Amino acid sequence: MKLFVSAASPFVRKILVQAHECGLADRIEPIDLSGSGLGPTSPVTELSASNPLGKIPALIRDDGSVLYDSRVIAEYLDSLHDGPPLLPTSGPERFETLRRVALADGICDAAVLGRYESVLRPEALRWDEFLDGQLQKIRGAIAALAAETLPDDADLGTIAVAVALGYLDLRWSEHDLWRGADPALVDWHARFAERPSMVATAPKL
Ligand code: BEZ
Repeated sequence: MKLFVSAASPFVRKILVQAHECGLADRIEPIDLSGSGLGPTSPVTELSASNPLGKIPALIRDDGSVLYDSRVIAEYLDSLHDGPPLLPTSGPERFETLRRVALADGICDAAVLGRYESVLRPEALRWDEFLDGQLQKIRGAIAALAAETLPDDADLGTIAVAVALGYLDLRWSEHDLWRGADPALVDWHARFAERPSMVATAPKL
């Protein structure tokens, strides 16, 4: 399998963490688009030929077919291993995990949009209220996470949360969007970040 990746993308990192957790990392050959100029206004032809949305991650399967986005790729990878599923197959646990993935992905969506607004958009066109709105979404989601008891085990939900918090550290550390919110969340993240899968996929920019 081949995976379009970029070093900073939290959506890519989720997939790589999962691949390590499931013993699939060796079966994935990365196509690294870091430094390619890929962005919301600058597509990369090779990626767009596989994913018409021009977004990463996109997975080229061994039969040549392509899967996107990260949630679809995650379900596919979970079907490829014999260990305990990282997405429970049924019951309330399945929907609790999917909800947690949605919450964490929402943090990443807002954090990436906020970055585009504050870094990529020409200064004269910047819209402060839009940025404030994205940061407000992140603060709301962090408050929701602080009210939860996160398990230490890796599943698609906890992986997504740990990666989202790592992305806030990477791109938004000067705003303290989460570390000051809840000491228990900080402790949980510190424990989770020690997993070999997290260490192996830490962004190297
Ligand atoms: C970033 O540089 O923060 C980034 C790159 C690719 C996807 C998302 C975020």
